[in-house]
Amino acid sequence: MHIDDAALHFDPRFEDPQELRRITRRGFFRRLIGGTAAGAALLSFGSNAFGAAAPPLNSLGRGATPDDERYWELVAGQFLIRKGLTYMNTGTRGPSPRSVHMAQIEAMVGIDSDYSGYTENAYNKDYRAELRNKMAAFLGVKTTEVAFTNNTTEGMVFGTFGPDLKRGDEIIYTNHDHSGGAHPILLRAAREGLAVKVIDLSDRKFHPPKSPDDLLKAFETAITPKTKLLSFCHINYTDGGVLPVKDICAMARAKGVLTLVDGAQTPGMMALDLHDLGCDMYAGPSHKWMMASMYTGFFYVREGIQDRVWPTLYAGLVNGKNMYGREPAGDDANFYKKETPGLARFELRGSSHYPARVSIGASLDFHNHLTREAVEARDRYLAQRLHKGLRAIDGVDLYTSDDPRLGCAIVAFTVKGVPTKTVNDLLWDRHVIYIRKVTHPEIGWDVNRASMHLMVTVRQVDTLIGAIQEIATQKPS
Ligand SMILES: Cc1ncc(COP(=O)(O)O)c(C=O)c1O
Repeated sequence: MHIDDAALHFDPRFEDPQELRRITRRGFFRRLIGGTAAGAALLSFGSNAFGAAAPPLNSLGRGATPDDERYWELVAGQFLIRKGLTYMNTGTRGPSPRSVHMAQIEAMVGIDSDYSGYTENAYNKDYRAELRNKMAAFLGVKTTEVAFTNNTTEGMVFGTFGPDLKRGDEIIYTNHDHSGGAHPILLRAAREGLAVKVIDLSDRKFHPPKSPDDLLKAFETAITPKTKLLSFCHINYTDGGVLPVKDICAMARAKGVLTLVDGAQTPGMMALDLHDLGCDMYAGPSHKWMMASMYTGFFYVREGIQDRVWPTLYAGLVNGKNMYGREPAGDDANFYKKETPGLARFELRGSSHYPARVSIGASLDFHNHLTREAVEARDRYLAQRLHKGLRAIDGVDLYTSDDPRLGCAIVAFTVKGVPTKTVNDLLWDRHVIYIRKVTHPEIGWDVNRASMHLMVTVRQVDTLIGAIQEIATQKPS
């Protein structure tokens, strides 16, 4: 690995357990939160205690054009990613920018230093209501239509197990879905005697398809009178393909079929308007393209069908009554009516991780500051540049479309004659570029996959293209 450890962004004291204990004992974190000069410096986004000097986020303008490299390099400088490392795997994990990272740390310090003060003055009712407002606005939904979850998979489980179904009813998914969406379907079907149909997208003609209609047709022909639930990805994690969600959902609704969309790869990459998409249910993470902390996500159910979706992991009121057989009164009543309205009942499952929720708020601020539209345009710009560069290389196969209706910020490719693992290993060994591969021999799938998000610069994209050119020429095995 060609990394100069001295150039790591982290304060080396944090890597030395003894030193860490010593500064913690000295009340370091108390001072950090107490607003001393040192603490303030550490908490400010531009501090270099946790990273190289970077301008504060709010000093950057809003809505820059996608090719304004000077601006986007400053945005890329907001991340803690260590110097020399090119990170191109937001599809798995979107590392938090400094403001999000620090908001989470601040919440942890608040909880452990003064829990009652923190929950009264910082993480209080007003903060939580505002957080829900921001999340709803980000998704284009009502506040009563969204619940916070811990990841995409939880939402997919809720959406799969929530609706009443009877023996013989059919659920459909595709073989390019993620196991987080497909396995819950198989579990429910095995337990309740439901039928399952898998739409076969393994044919090369779907990667990429010529037109969104090719995908729509594959979905339409799969539906039968038995079909009650259709579960599929907004963006495939396998090839980065964007599905025609709006058309598929309209088609399904006309046939009386509920739709559950796996949005693991979309929020924070594409500006979303779930009402416009017209899906019944949508599950997503906040820990990927939104770049909040790990273990964050959301679940949406449109207003019109909420009474058809049972919460499955739930410890709230049943038929409006509490464990004493009473309707709640006083603070309890307020909590249920005002704090967990509509879909938020899906959050009634014990204590949550406040710092993670706080990181969602900070990540929404981060995106809203840059603007969702500018972020999507930048991601597309980087992906288009990568796409064009790879297309020009003899011996590279692309599986993602550059048609904006069919692709966005994930690019899947292979180098003829070079195993995907070798490609990834060489990118890492020679250039410290981190991408992933997606391999499913059961459906003949084995590709390299690069994610283009805000921590990536044009220079890094060009280095990747050059590195792939080199590999394609040398053809190492
Ligand atoms: C399409 C898709 N669905 C579901 C998941 C699982 O997401 P999570 O870890 O948020 O549950 C992933 C993770 O990469 C994914 O790409």
